[in-house]
Amino acid sequence: MYKVTDSIYYVGVNDHKIDLFEGQYKVPHGMCYNSYIIDDDKVLVMDTVDQNFKHEWLDNIASTLGDKKPDYLVVQHMEPDHSANIKNFLEVYPEATVVGNAKTFKMMEQFFGNDIAPKRLVVENGGTLDLGHHQLTFVFAPMVHWPEVMFTYDATDKVLFSADAFGKFGAQDVEEDWESEGRRYYIGIVGKYGMQVTNVLKKAADLDIQIIAPLHGPVLKEKLGYYLDLYTKWSGYETEKEGVMIAYTSVYGHTKAAVEKLVNLLKANQCPDVKVYDLARCDMSEAVADAFAYGKLVLATTTYNADIFPFMNEFIDHLVERNYQNKTIGIIENGTWAPQAAKVIIKKLSTLKNINLNENVVHIMSALNETSSKQLEALASDLCSEYVGASDTANKNDMTALFRLGYGLYVVTTNDGKMDNGCIVNTVSQVADSPTRVAVCINKKNYTDHIIDKTGIMNINCLSTEAPFEVFKQYGFQSGRAVNKFENMKFHRTDNGLAILPQYINAVISLKVENKLDIGSHHMYICTVEEARVLSKVPTMTYTYYQDHVKPKPETAGKKGWVCKVCGYVYEGDELPEDFVCPLCKHGASDFERIE
Ligand code: FEO
Repeated sequence: MYKVTDSIYYVGVNDHKIDLFEGQYKVPHGMCYNSYIIDDDKVLVMDTVDQNFKHEWLDNIASTLGDKKPDYLVVQHMEPDHSANIKNFLEVYPEATVVGNAKTFKMMEQFFGNDIAPKRLVVENGGTLDLGHHQLTFVFAPMVHWPEVMFTYDATDKVLFSADAFGKFGAQDVEEDWESEGRRYYIGIVGKYGMQVTNVLKKAADLDIQIIAPLHGPVLKEKLGYYLDLYTKWSGYETEKEGVMIAYTSVYGHTKAAVEKLVNLLKANQCPDVKVYDLARCDMSEAVADAFAYGKLVLATTTYNADIFPFMNEFIDHLVERNYQNKTIGIIENGTWAPQAAKVIIKKLSTLKNINLNENVVHIMSALNETSSKQLEALASDLCSEYVGASDTANKNDMTALFRLGYGLYVVTTNDGKMDNGCIVNTVSQVADSPTRVAVCINKKNYTDHIIDKTGIMNINCLSTEAPFEVFKQYGFQSGRAVNKFENMKFHRTDNGLAILPQYINAVISLKVENKLDIGSHHMYICTVEEARVLSKVPTMTYTYYQDHVKPKPETAGKKGWVCKVCGYVYEGDELPEDFVCPLCKHGASDFERIE
């Protein structure tokens, strides 16, 4: 027990006897079930704990409250690790009112019978509860992790009680890194529900939060931006780790030998990180969590009973169940008389969104030979093309980079002498081939235009279809005058000293300005090509692809007003002021359309 704030107490418990959390996740450092008391004019208990800790938890409440009795028990989540002691609590405190939503009470009756909780307060999304000094608001968070889940925001102490979100495996009395166990927990428990997590993060963005109090793991009081940033990445299925993860099974060692050879080839091709999991021996949940963190995954397995090896089957099922997406996948199959593994894997992955299957499938017949070794080399070369392309050993005169230009979307990188900058543009064209000339149009209002005018150089980073919406927010919705868009980012540079975007591009082209035309709102820069590097085969992000697949669908249902065509921001009102500027992406009124 300890104080979270002057009037909020932690009364949860640590569990060091548990072997498998939720019956499947190994928790070598135990688990904790968090519970809190808000000690105010009205006394409130936030959630119960696992069934094995009835007495320890009730003791914690009694010794914190002394002679006082709780007025309320809030039930944020009905999964039994948090709800098992509702009945036991009410036997001790029968006068307490149980607070939940309609779905909470339906589940409560299923677990405990219809006569549970005779004193109830059924709250709506956005409903409030006044404890005297503390003012609580309930924020529904469906499917994070069950449909009835709700968060509770205490506006007085600025605490977000976040149910399962922002939790981790491990007891509170064990010191360990938050991120790796937080990731394994997130991917395992709510990995499937990225969209729902994104939605609730949007709701939380409007709140002034200084403390996050989850139902598992430590209370978070510092660097909250770090945890929110991780959750944004995880729920957006973004690439967190550059490099390649290899998941394999091997019966007699021949597939393993191919994996070992691939590791060496990847390293020789400047792969920044290679992580290997033997699926028969590793912790499956760690392999699954890392598969979501890496942008590139290789699956290597044998044909088995006209299917694939069982551990690989299980591994892919975990990915598919959790809506695995936005990744590049390579395949190595092995078989002695009727290899099927590649076919089976491709079929299993066929329902996933935004998966770039590498065309260089490696077919091993029993053991590596010259043909399959060459296929391995081609796979390694393809997977690493962006790492080689960004390095000093790149082919810097690969004019096929110009084939990546179209009516696409690009990040133009520049440097004002103090700071790197990046800006989204959509007009880049090759306009002559002898000599090669490229035209780039930049809005005069952009700081990038000012920098190019001064320095005469720029890099065109051709975005690929792997680029998530976050990239557009990062480079398009804020000014490089005010923000360092490359802060804390690791990246390479072309010979002109300008940045190469570290992810999500298929080519980079360094340009030197030869002429500048004033064409009204924009300058058109006519440029020579100083470097042209190809980084991947993933197609260029076109404007249409961005509109159809990347830009979040605006939530206009039931709303009247105007919606921004660039970012989806909704302005509610009959008329949009002519000088209106979108608060999200900074585009003007001309980029809005009326909601029909
Ligand atoms: Fe910690 Fe979804 O229960």
